[in-house]
This record gives sequence, structure tokens and C-alpha cells, in this order.
Amino acid sequence: MRGLAAALLLLPWMLLLLHAAAVGNGSCARSCGALTVQYPFGFSPGCEIPLGCDQANGTAWLGGARELGLLVSNVTARALFLALRPNCSRRLNASLEALFTKTYAPGRQNALVVSSCRPASLAADISNCSVHPSAYFDNSSQCGRGAADSIHCVVPTQPTSDDNIRVPDRFLNRTEMQTLAAECTGLVAAVSYDWDAPAPALLLSTMELEWWMLGPCRCSRQANCTRVTTPDARQEAFRCECRVGFEGDGFAEGAGCRKDAGNGSCARSCGGLTVQYPFGFSPGCEIPLGCDDQANGTAWVGGARELGLLVHNVTARAVVLSLPQDCSRRLNASIQALFSKSYAPGSQNALVVSACSPA
Ligand SMILES: *[C@@H]1O[C@H](CO)[C@@H](O)[C@H](O)[C@H]1NC(C)=O
Ligand SMILES: *[C@@H]1O[C@H](CO)[C@@H](O)[C@H](O)[C@H]1NC(C)=O
Ligand SMILES: *[C@@H]1O[C@H](CO)[C@@H](O)[C@H](O)[C@H]1NC(C)=O
Ligand SMILES: *[C@@H]1O[C@H](CO)[C@@H](O)[C@H](O)[C@H]1NC(C)=O
Ligand SMILES: *[C@@H]1O[C@H](CO)[C@@H](O)[C@H](O)[C@H]1NC(C)=O
Ligand SMILES: *[C@@H]1O[C@H](CO)[C@@H](O)[C@H](O)[C@H]1NC(C)=O
Ligand SMILES: *[C@@H]1O[C@H](CO)[C@@H](O)[C@H](O)[C@H]1NC(C)=O
Ligand SMILES: *[C@@H]1O[C@H](CO)[C@@H](O)[C@H](O)[C@H]1NC(C)=O
Ligand SMILES: *[C@@H]1O[C@H](CO)[C@@H](O)[C@H](O)[C@H]1NC(C)=O
Ligand SMILES: *[C@@H]1O[C@H](CO)[C@@H](O)[C@H](O)[C@H]1NC(C)=O
Ligand SMILES: *[C@@H]1O[C@H](CO)[C@@H](O)[C@H](O)[C@H]1NC(C)=O
Ligand SMILES: *[C@@H]1O[C@H](CO)[C@@H](O)[C@H](O)[C@H]1NC(C)=O
Repeated sequence: MRGLAAALLLLPWMLLLLHAAAVGNGSCARSCGALTVQYPFGFSPGCEIPLGCDQANGTAWLGGARELGLLVSNVTARALFLALRPNCSRRLNASLEALFTKTYAPGRQNALVVSSCRPASLAADISNCSVHPSAYFDNSSQCGRGAADSIHCVVPTQPTSDDNIRVPDRFLNRTEMQTLAAECTGLVAAVSYDWDAPAPALLLSTMELEWWMLGPCRCSRQANCTRVTTPDARQEAFRCECRVGFEGDGFAEGAGCRKDAGNGSCARSCGGLTVQYPFGFSPGCEIPLGCDDQANGTAWVGGARELGLLVHNVTARAVVLSLPQDCSRRLNASIQALFSKSYAPGSQNALVVSACSPA
């Protein structure tokens, strides 16, 4: 850029690289398709609790083996929700390895449907299913006649009120499950009871795992710490939750908590473009972008719509701008808009400038 260029003329695409602070330590991918999770979960090896992800179709799964089909449907501040398509070829033994780890385990609200059981199985809590599971099998369930005939249900006894203090009873007993795996080789499906729903709900093909972090409380200042008794009661474990008025993962080593953007008033969409935290299109957003009409609008960076620094897309790493050709776009004002405290143009951008002083 020699001389005094007055206008930033044309440049079909421009990449503004995000400053690391805006998106946290980039070494953990927190999104998989439509599913976005928070610390400590993520979908790359750098994450504290890594989950599997097929980025091609946004399928998330648990454990090392994709073919087990233990698909992750949601992760909340307390639990991981799995979706299990009925499948008579899913090995129970291998599934247990994936379900019981040092940071999560299935709760006792889960009933299991198991297959290929030895006749006269003796394992705990095993019974004929009250509704034969073939009622909801489809052709992809790989339930041959033999497997289907030996299907049983495992319904854990609910802790009575007296038992509530024995917190380990919140979890399925791993030892008993391993005994079960010697009797029945397939894990067909699971059913979870939601006792918190207004009326107890039966979630078909859903399994709920409670999760925790090991060690003493390490929460951010604006978060409450919940101590968790894990299946191995001798361990110290915890979870964090931001207090009312704050949002975030709550962990001191995660993103912590930030002030709630006034009752969730950050608009994340503008026309066909949807962006993720920290970007948005209203004043309550952490990194606000402009939008001239939320329903079918055009998005732009910087305070001035007329600069025409239009936002084409926002990825995990960059803001992609499209700059329609314009000889009157002021370079000086554009620089103000392009270099912010959270993003700046990368050195891969070439600029076309106009109205340069001679020589
Ligand atoms: C990102 O996280 C990794 C693993 O936790 C750590 O080794 C690295 O130093 C972090 N990088 C930054 C810039 O904080
Ligand atoms: C996702 O894609 C993989 C192949 O990339 C395929 O095996 C799998 O069945 C797909 N899952 C869904 C739910 O479509
Ligand atoms: C995932 O859990 C969050 C928090 O409980 C909830 O707001 C959201 O609707 C859930 N998403 C799905 C797809 O169930
Ligand atoms: C059923 O499970 C087997 C073994 O885990 C797997 O190979 C197969 O793809 C699964 N079928 C479906 C429809 O998910
Ligand atoms: C389960 O069903 C089989 C056949 O349908 C029957 O022979 C068996 O007695 C039943 N077992 C129990 C414990 O009800
Ligand atoms: C399952 O297979 C049967 C017979 O092979 C077929 O008639 C039926 O349409 C199939 N159902 C589905 C959902 O594919
Ligand atoms: C799990 O079951 C085994 C065998 O029934 C029992 O010895 C053990 O105490 C149980 N563990 C817990 C944590 O309840
Ligand atoms: C299940 O796996 C354990 C080790 O993970 C092994 O000792 C046991 O023999 C396996 N049982 C079956 C029935 O495959
Ligand atoms: C955090 O703890 C305070 C005081 O014990 C309690 O009033 C509040 O409801 C808790 N907040 C959450 C989100 O758990
Ligand atoms: C959210 O904030 C807006 C404006 O600040 C207010 O009108 C609205 O009632 C609030 N909604 C809730 C649910 O608090
Ligand atoms: C929204 O889109 C419609 C159809 O594309 C167009 O006629 C209308 O002028 C647009 N509204 C604004 C505010 O640009
Ligand atoms: C925006 O970026 C995301 C993530 O890289 C990508 O999946 C999507 O296709 C892009 N959208 C457009 C309109 O380019």
C-alpha cells in the first residue's frame, strides 16, 4: 500500500482472523453438526472429554468404536444423552467399556434391552420384556429370529427413599453389568425414565449418563460447585454451574461464566446466516455484527453499513467478508472497522485500492 490510498476499492473475499481470546483455546472443537457442547466435552483429541464425530453428516458418538452406535444426542450441565437405534448386533461387552469411564457412567433410570441371552439366565434384574421389543424393530435392527427370541429386559430396581443417601445407587452397577454380559451378548436398546418431567416420561431408545470431573472443586467465581459421588465412592469429583444471571460452562479451566446477555437477547441469525457465540446481530452480543433486517437481511462488520464490508460467513476461525466493488468505499474508515480487538485481516488478503496520490 504505497502512497495515500483513499478508497478500498474491491476485493471479492476477505478473511478476518479471529483473535484466540474470542473463541478460547482453539485446540478443542466444540461442535459436531447441529450439536454444540461445552467444556469439558468436545470432538477433537485436545478436548478434556473427547467424543467422536463424523463431521460429514454431523453424527456424534461415544467411545472408541463408532460401529457400536452409541450416538450422542445432547450434553447438558449434568448428563449425556445417548440415542441407541435398536440393534441386535451391538455387543454388550464392548458397549460397557464405552459407557463406564472415569468421567461418566449410566444412571439407574436406564432400563436395558439385551439379546442372545443364555436360556435360564440368572443375572440380576433380568426379566421378559412387558412389550416385546420386536414391536419397534425395523429391518435394520439385525435381529434374527434367534436373537429376537432371546431378548430380555433389565430394569434396575429404583432406590427406595431410604436408599437415597446411598448415592452410588444412582448408577448401574458395573460388576453386575459385566456378569450380565456373560449371559447376554447383545445390547439392543435402552429406555430411560425422566423423573424430572412434569409426568414421569419414558424416553424410548435413550440412555442417560451422568458426568463429572475428578478432583476438588475448580469452578469459576460466578459458579456453584456440585460435589458428585461417583460409582467409585472413594473419588472426589465435581461439576460447575453458573449462577443465575450468568451463562457458560462454569469451569475455572473452561470458559467460566459470563454475564447473561440480558435474557438471552443476542440474536444469532441474520437472513440465511446463523452464527455462534461470541458473534451475533444485536447489541447484547459479545461480538456484535450489523444486520439490516433479521428476517432477510444483509450482515456487515463495523459500525457503518454503507462501507459495504458484508459478512459472508463466520467459521470457527475466521470471519469471511465479501466486498462488492465500490470506488467510494473509504479506506481509512474501513481500516477502523477491519482491525478490532477481536478480529483482524489475515496476511493472505490482497487489497485493491483506488484514488491513490500520484507516485
Ligand atoms: C491450549 O490447551 C492445551 C491443552 O490444554 C495447552 O497445552 C495449550 O498451552 C493451550 N494453548 C493456549 C494458547 O492457551
Ligand atoms: C454418517 O456418515 C457415515 C459415513 O460417512 C455413515 O456410515 C453413517 O451411517 C452416517 N450416519 C447417519 C446417521 O447418516
Ligand atoms: C439439549 O439440552 C439443552 C439444555 O438442557 C436444551 O436446552 C436443548 O433443547 C437440548 N437439545 C436437544 C436437541 O434436545
Ligand atoms: C448394528 O451393530 C453392528 C455391530 O456393532 C454394526 O456393524 C451395524 O452397522 C449396526 N447396524 C445399524 C443399522 O446401526
Ligand atoms: C418368559 O417368556 C418365556 C416364553 O415366552 C416363558 O417360557 C418364560 O417362562 C417367561 N419367563 C418369565 C420369568 O416370565
Ligand atoms: C422390511 O422387510 C419386509 C420384508 O422383507 C418389507 O416388506 C418391509 O417393507 C420392510 N420394511 C422397511 C421399513 O423397510
Ligand atoms: C455391585 O454389585 C456387586 C455384586 O452384586 C456388589 O458386591 C457391589 O457392592 C455392588 N457395588 C455397588 C457400588 O453397589
Ligand atoms: C467381556 O470383556 C471382558 C474384558 O473386558 C472379558 O474378560 C470377558 O471375557 C468378556 N466376556 C465376553 C462374554 O465376551
Ligand atoms: C447456587 O447456590 C446458591 C446458594 O446456595 C443458590 O441459591 C442458587 O440457586 C444456586 N444456583 C444454581 C444455578 O444452582
Ligand atoms: C427480555 O428483555 C426485553 C428487553 O430488555 C424485555 O422486554 C423482555 O420482557 C425480557 N424477557 C424476559 C423473558 O425476561
Ligand atoms: C426482503 O426480501 C424481499 C424479497 O427478496 C424483498 O422484496 C424485500 O425488499 C427485502 N426487505 C428488505 C428490508 O430488504
Ligand atoms: C459457512 O461456514 C460453515 C463452517 O465452515 C460451512 O459449513 C458453511 O457451508 C458455510 N456457509 C456458506 C454459505 O458458505
